[in-house]
Amino acid sequence: MENSKKKIIVTGSNRGIGYAIVDRLLREKFSVIMVDYDGEVINTAKNLNKIYNNVDGIQCDVSDFNACNDAFKDINKNEIYGIVNNAGINRDALFKNMEYNQWDAVIKTDLYSVFNVTKIFVNGMIENNCGRIVNISSASWNGNIGQANYAAAKAGVIGFTKTLAKELGKYNIKANAIIPGFIKTPMTDQLPDKIREKFIDRIPLKRIGLPEDVANATAFLLDEKSDYINGDLIEVGGGLVL
Ligand SMILES: NC(=O)c1ccc[n+]([C@@H]2O[C@H](COP(=O)([O-])OP(=O)(O)OC[C@H]3O[C@@H](n4cnc5c(N)ncnc54)[C@H](O)[C@@H]3O)[C@@H](O)[C@H]2O)c1
Repeated sequence: MENSKKKIIVTGSNRGIGYAIVDRLLREKFSVIMVDYDGEVINTAKNLNKIYNNVDGIQCDVSDFNACNDAFKDINKNEIYGIVNNAGINRDALFKNMEYNQWDAVIKTDLYSVFNVTKIFVNGMIENNCGRIVNISSASWNGNIGQANYAAAKAGVIGFTKTLAKELGKYNIKANAIIPGFIKTPMTDQLPDKIREKFIDRIPLKRIGLPEDVANATAFLLDEKSDYINGDLIEVGGGLVL
């Protein structure tokens, strides 16, 4: 099947890694549906459409299952070839200081969203007997000080991915995850310089990654070249292990 016939949903794609993924997929001639809770995504998609002509934008809070059902109700479920579950937030605090709302927001956005979006489209993929699911986890899944909420969500994403790989492989659906290390985006731009320098020191390549680095790995996992890769993790972190 040619890429233009493959429609990919990318969540959290109005900026950062999600936007770079969309840009890369459009260059590869995939059709893309951008999803973000920032309403600006509609304009972002319109602007990209002037160049590529195969991109839609949908405003949706993917942490909310009912909102997802509502936002995606007009999409033909058999039209979706791939899902990139990228939307995520962090609300860092040492666990002794972590408030319930910091836990709740991160688990809902970074983990429930992966259930919500995948659940809506998985039966269409099963009927089509093909599909790709790419989940964006994080090096923090391994445990990181100040990120009990984020690490729990991102480790959950890995368990979810590996289970779907086992359950859905027989339907020719492949599920894999990407583990970005420290990537330059608005999320990490908020960090104080001191913390950024500490991280860079721990990266064997001694530099911060770019959203395009994650986009390249994502495009690979949606490409026919990765047809026999299922239930795997690709680390995009310059060698960083937390
Ligand atoms: N930047 C990094 O260093 C890094 C490292 C590891 C993993 N990640 C992961 O990569 C993904 C993208 O991160 P980023 O750095 O590009 O973040 P970002 O904050 O720059 O962009 C995240 C995008 O997701 C959207 N979003 C957030 N919550 C949403 C929701 N509930 N519904 C719909 N859209 C929502 C935001 O509006 C934004 O456009 C996240 O899952 C993040 O955890 C990032």
